[in-house]
Amino acid sequence: MNPLHVVILAAGQGSRMKSALPKVLHGVAGRPMLHHVIGTAKQLGAETIHTVIGHGADQVKAVTPETSVNWVVQSEQLGTGHAVAQVLPDLPDDARVLVLYGDVPLTRVETLEAMVAELDERALALLTVTLDDPGGYGRIVRNDADQVTSIVEQKDATESQRAIREVNTGILAVSAKHLKNWLPTLSNANAQGEYYLTDIIAMAVDHGLSISVAQPGNAYEVQGVNNRLQLAELERWYQRREADRLMTEGATLADPARIDVRGDLTIGNDILIDVNVVFEGKVSIGSGVSIGPGCVIKDARIADGAQIKAHSVIEGATIGANAQIGPFARLRPGTELAADTKVGNFVETKKTVVGEGSKINHLSYVGDASLGRNVNVGAGTITCNYDGVNKFRTEIGDGVFVGSNTSLVAPVSISADATIGAGSTITRDVADSELAVARGRQRNISGWERPKKSD
Ligand code: UD1
Ligand code: CA
Repeated sequence: MNPLHVVILAAGQGSRMKSALPKVLHGVAGRPMLHHVIGTAKQLGAETIHTVIGHGADQVKAVTPETSVNWVVQSEQLGTGHAVAQVLPDLPDDARVLVLYGDVPLTRVETLEAMVAELDERALALLTVTLDDPGGYGRIVRNDADQVTSIVEQKDATESQRAIREVNTGILAVSAKHLKNWLPTLSNANAQGEYYLTDIIAMAVDHGLSISVAQPGNAYEVQGVNNRLQLAELERWYQRREADRLMTEGATLADPARIDVRGDLTIGNDILIDVNVVFEGKVSIGSGVSIGPGCVIKDARIADGAQIKAHSVIEGATIGANAQIGPFARLRPGTELAADTKVGNFVETKKTVVGEGSKINHLSYVGDASLGRNVNVGAGTITCNYDGVNKFRTEIGDGVFVGSNTSLVAPVSISADATIGAGSTITRDVADSELAVARGRQRNISGWERPKKSD
């Protein structure tokens, strides 16, 4: 099979976005549209992904780390045909070339695979869609035998051509050899004074190629984004597809319209996800996990049976089996909770490892710390990990009981089975099984008379 080269057009300005950000960098599901298209091209097995940039080229390059992208600058946007022509020197003659668009982010790999799989030099593959309102699009012109003969742009179309509802998505595939022959001969003598890529359809017909037409399963797959309303429509479609996938894979969603997946979410069976939960980055969830309303979960691994209660915010954390988190917990990066742990309301953790069965149930900050098994951290415990310049660690052994309202001034180590009296400020290490109390002694004064109001 001849190598596949993908050309992504992304040079246009996108003025209707009303934005300082180049259009193709606007996000769907938390990722720039262009990155969705690059991802699709990769999945298709493209040998090279050529991306034509112009407006905002530097910004586009800066946020696209893909070294596999061949950037081609089109400094003046003279039309889609002119844009593809900029790539010709970089295309091997034997390549199959698929043209995609940086602002058409959600085309399914399967749809495109079908177009390029059988492609050879005798055919041009075209992706079309039939719309109730074809306004603005290039129309697919067919002859009496129903074969495609050309594409005519809306602005160049006759009255009767404008009535055609089958339109050009812009996506097509053809061999590089033909593009090299045809693109240099394009003319811009048309209503928009542009070099139209669509003019190659009539050329292909003239050269005796067959035009094979495919259609996407859903029109959203080929919808381009010109303004933020269309961006929002695609976002909703994407999210609905994700919701459907999750339900198919074993999640019960309280409302499939109120979940947002902005990354890769993998799940086990029997997951419960309540409303308004946002997933970001790479998240994996084991079986039997429940997630309460309003949680934000980013780059996390959650083991079987864990319960994440309402309004918890989790980032860069691993959560062991049957752990109970929240409501209103905040787990920051480097939090590793073993099985059967509990982190309750208004508790913040960071770079903290918590052993099996340990609990931090209320109103605490535990950072740069390691806790053994079966530790109980009382309400209002703070690890004082920062002296204004450096960070220090707190070590807590198995079975330690930390009384409420304790400050642990790091670096400090509390050995196994020690007890810390409530209200202590602990600045020195505590040995095994010791009780440490570090607070002002209570004095009770009898016969105390309250001050009286003076005249
Ligand atoms: C194009 C098609 C039309 C199709 C429609 C689908 C042509 C002549 N027309 O029309 O048949 O129905 O898409 O949306 O191809 N671009 C560049 N450089 C350029 C010009 C465009 O990179 O010089 C990029 C734009 O950024 C945009 C895409 O190509 O992403 C489409 O260009 P646009 O001018 O919007 O084409 P349409 O008029 O919509
Ligand atoms: Ca357009």
